[in-house]
Amino acid sequence: MNSIDRYAVFGQPINHSKSPQIHTFFAQQTRQNLIYQAKEVGADIFTVSANEFFSKGGKGLNCTVPLKELAFQFADKLTPRAKFAKAVNTLVLQSDGSILGDNTDGCGLVRDLMINHQITLKEKRILILGAGGASRGIIDPIMQHSPEKIVIANRTVEKSIALAIEFQDLGMIKGCGFKDLVQQQFDLILNATSASLSNQLPPLVDNLLAENGCCYDLAYANEPTAFVRWGLENKALKSLDGLGMLIEQAAEAFYSWRGIRPNTENIINLFHEGTI
Ligand code: ATR
Repeated sequence: MNSIDRYAVFGQPINHSKSPQIHTFFAQQTRQNLIYQAKEVGADIFTVSANEFFSKGGKGLNCTVPLKELAFQFADKLTPRAKFAKAVNTLVLQSDGSILGDNTDGCGLVRDLMINHQITLKEKRILILGAGGASRGIIDPIMQHSPEKIVIANRTVEKSIALAIEFQDLGMIKGCGFKDLVQQQFDLILNATSASLSNQLPPLVDNLLAENGCCYDLAYANEPTAFVRWGLENKALKSLDGLGMLIEQAAEAFYSWRGIRPNTENIINLFHEGTI
């Protein structure tokens, strides 16, 4: 019988996923005996595939686009951060056979900003572009670090206003449209729209970024994204893509599964160098 613990990432498309490389690297570094594979799974077959994976001895799953809401429904129990996000990117087999749903995306972002890039959030004016699932998952983890305010700007204004109202108990959070940002300035602008994936940019007004402000695109691509380029053109102190977030959310998922936290510094450097 095969005694190696099995993990996987499900999503569609999945062929460009870096998760197998990242988790295999973590496993070698921490001397954990496991295999991690990527599997193309669409929304229509998610529940059947996840049930099959766990019934055949799988220990944990990552779920990516377009499965995070379905994984949220699938889980028997949820961590508080998954409840806030209403989305799950990590499923963990528990010792009693139940499945715990977790969301490590927001934590991954905050760790990348604060630990890897020394970008502080306390008393900062933060703008989030987009009001979809990616935005929802990062609001609570950011608010835990006491920014001055979060403004959520979205193409469909009703969605950003509704999202801000949903989280209003956490502190100063406002929703608006892109045009409403005229004459406002922010210390940190986070792009959580899916525009980057098609190399597009939300319509951003001039002078949006404060002096020494930073830009961060939650998306990651081999070339600088349109938003990373926008940040550089607008004199951002740092204009970063989501590679570090991807690696940090993976490290947090690995920790949920194995109880051991991998070191992320080496692998971030290897990706930046193009070694892996
Ligand atoms: P995700 O789970 O990745 O957040 P989503 O829930 O489909 O995906 O949300 C995508 C977000 O990107 C939305 O905020 C969307 O704006 P709308 O709510 O108005 O649709 C935003 N978005 C996508 N393409 C965009 C574009 N070209 N310009 C601006 N915003 C865009």
